[in-house]
Amino acid sequence: MRPSKDIFDAYEERSWRSVARRQRALGMEFVAGRREGSYIWDAEGRRRLLDCTTGGGVHALGHRNPEVVAALQGALDRGLDGGMWMMPNEEHLGLQDALAASAPHAALNRSVLTLAASNSNDLALLFAFRVTGRRKVLAYRHGYHGHAGFAALVTGSAGENVIGYYNLPDATGRFFEPYGDLAAVERLIDRDVAAIIVEPMDYETFAPSPPGYLPGLAALAHRHGALLIMDETRTGLMRSGRMWMCQHSGAEPDMLVCGKGLSGGLYPASAVLTTAAIYDRCINQHELAYASSMGGNEISAAVGRKVIEIVRRPDLAANVAALEERFKMRFGELCRRRQDTFFPGTVQGAIATIGLATPAHREAIAPALFRRGILMHSVSAIAPDGAKFFPPLTSAPAAVDEIADALDDIARAWRAGGPGAA
Ligand SMILES: Cc1ncc(COP(=O)(O)O)c(C=O)c1O
Repeated sequence: MRPSKDIFDAYEERSWRSVARRQRALGMEFVAGRREGSYIWDAEGRRRLLDCTTGGGVHALGHRNPEVVAALQGALDRGLDGGMWMMPNEEHLGLQDALAASAPHAALNRSVLTLAASNSNDLALLFAFRVTGRRKVLAYRHGYHGHAGFAALVTGSAGENVIGYYNLPDATGRFFEPYGDLAAVERLIDRDVAAIIVEPMDYETFAPSPPGYLPGLAALAHRHGALLIMDETRTGLMRSGRMWMCQHSGAEPDMLVCGKGLSGGLYPASAVLTTAAIYDRCINQHELAYASSMGGNEISAAVGRKVIEIVRRPDLAANVAALEERFKMRFGELCRRRQDTFFPGTVQGAIATIGLATPAHREAIAPALFRRGILMHSVSAIAPDGAKFFPPLTSAPAAVDEIADALDDIARAWRAGGPGAA
């Protein structure tokens, strides 16, 4: 196996330089070798990290989940392949039925399979334009919906700056903030708006949506003849303790996007869940109303179906509840004991933050955790400053103890010697 340093050097020389530079700047040079469950080892097999990013939920069922690996291998062994999009296939139908059975409300009983959530958001917006005959979209300023197509037009954060950087036509998206403030959305909506697209939490801060916000957005959209698209790419599939995070609020979106974890971390799969009326209007109205070469492929469908089967089992929900409880307990205790370093953040399901009391710790926390074997998600780019954790849903609750113990150790070192000390 090629040494990690060579791979980093080659990345810097002729590949995704920004990725390599960012990791190097943080002192976090790491190329994944073996991986299993909640852990990844470096290519040399010397270091192990607890993965608390899961790529934003790609590896929600752990790395190389044995059941998903078997489903993928089984699909190949059964003679399946990418299928032929112009012919019906049973696997695709099976995934559509599984998605319908797990939808947040009964009307979302149709779905379109894609290979990435960017494409699903692109498609959901395409459908919204067709159904409403309008072209504007409202989106949260610090949300992320992808780097492709219409999804890119509604990704408005300063950090990503997709619209400005790529010189995109900027007449589609209108951005609201703060998250959770209905009046801010109401000020922007009019009869040109086709859809509001939103995640069911403020993913920048990891704060869950306030009570009434999501149903309020649905009502607002519908009052103005627009649609509500719920982007559950990161929050869906039991991440929050419910199959879909929007279910905590009772909101009923017109479309829901699912991605990342639907792939089982192994084979690309994403989907748009929608109503029969929207589906038929957009997909079936004439023979070539929609086409996608791999958009009903058997391998993605087999993997996605297995993922849905696993996440709907009561034991997974129970494990997420146990993770939530452990996060609340350990982070709560840490915040009480180390008030100079941490303040309380938010926890819902396997989505957790802990506030950082000192701005200088924003940059220092990820490398300090890395040195202690924890790969954290990120620090929020907007207030409040919070360190974010997004571990596999299959992690043992003891994984939370690893995180909390590392944070405790870091706080001790900082107290003794300042941000550089840990
Ligand atoms: C909420 C959300 N929507 C859409 C996307 C785009 O997904 P993909 O990169 O799989 O196309 C992402 C990716 O991070 C996301 O987090």
